[in-house]
Amino acid sequence: MNPIRLGVNIDHIATVRNARGGLDPSPMRAARAVLAAGADSITMHLREDRRHIREDDVLAVRAAITAPLNLEMAATDEMVRFALQVRPHACCLVPEKRTEVTTEGGLDVASQRASLAPVVAALREAGIRVSLFIDPNPAQLEASAAIGAQVVELHTGAYAQGVPGELDRLRAAAALTTTLGLQCHAGHGLTFKNTPPVAALPEVEELNIGHFLVGEAFFVGLYAVIRRMKMVMAR
Ligand code: PXP
Repeated sequence: MNPIRLGVNIDHIATVRNARGGLDPSPMRAARAVLAAGADSITMHLREDRRHIREDDVLAVRAAITAPLNLEMAATDEMVRFALQVRPHACCLVPEKRTEVTTEGGLDVASQRASLAPVVAALREAGIRVSLFIDPNPAQLEASAAIGAQVVELHTGAYAQGVPGELDRLRAAAALTTTLGLQCHAGHGLTFKNTPPVAALPEVEELNIGHFLVGEAFFVGLYAVIRRMKMVMAR
């Protein structure tokens, strides 16, 4: 069996950059750094309000890396046009509400089959692997397979929040992906502590993790950065 892959979501590098404006910290530099550390792919979410990643970030990262780029986006005409221009390795379709702080729930594929099916088809025709970010619910899995998605990314947010029974729901959903011929990914809210049971699900091939990794990187990096600044100042 292949080892489970890690996709790193670098959106919050752009969140920090945008807090000040300017160019730093650079999402492209972050993409190179996480790949050098062994990550398998880069995930970027282009949100409707461009609150973190912008088009130029996606284009710059696309040109800078040879590893797979996973573009997360809402299933809108604007985003589909952009994806067809960028041609990332993969697109993950997510629901998006302007007011939400982060992607709150999975895509309701079961009730939006008619509008999602042409989006899936257009992306697939362009050679882009299509993933749907869904709650671990059998009806959503069945609808995802029915409209031609190759991958489902199971939303682990409720599990990460400690909702009782969520690991069992994830386990059952992951098992169903095999029956339906879907690749199984998972992500949202994963940390060092809560990742092992999800990573241990045999069907899960890829995890996409962002917020925790970027936050944790501050603490791993602050010591070295402060030491270096003290040296710079002493010179
Ligand atoms: N997967 C998808 C589809 C997401 O929308 C997000 C959040 O942008 C993640 C994974 C990563 O979640 P987190 O930032 O909580 O690790």
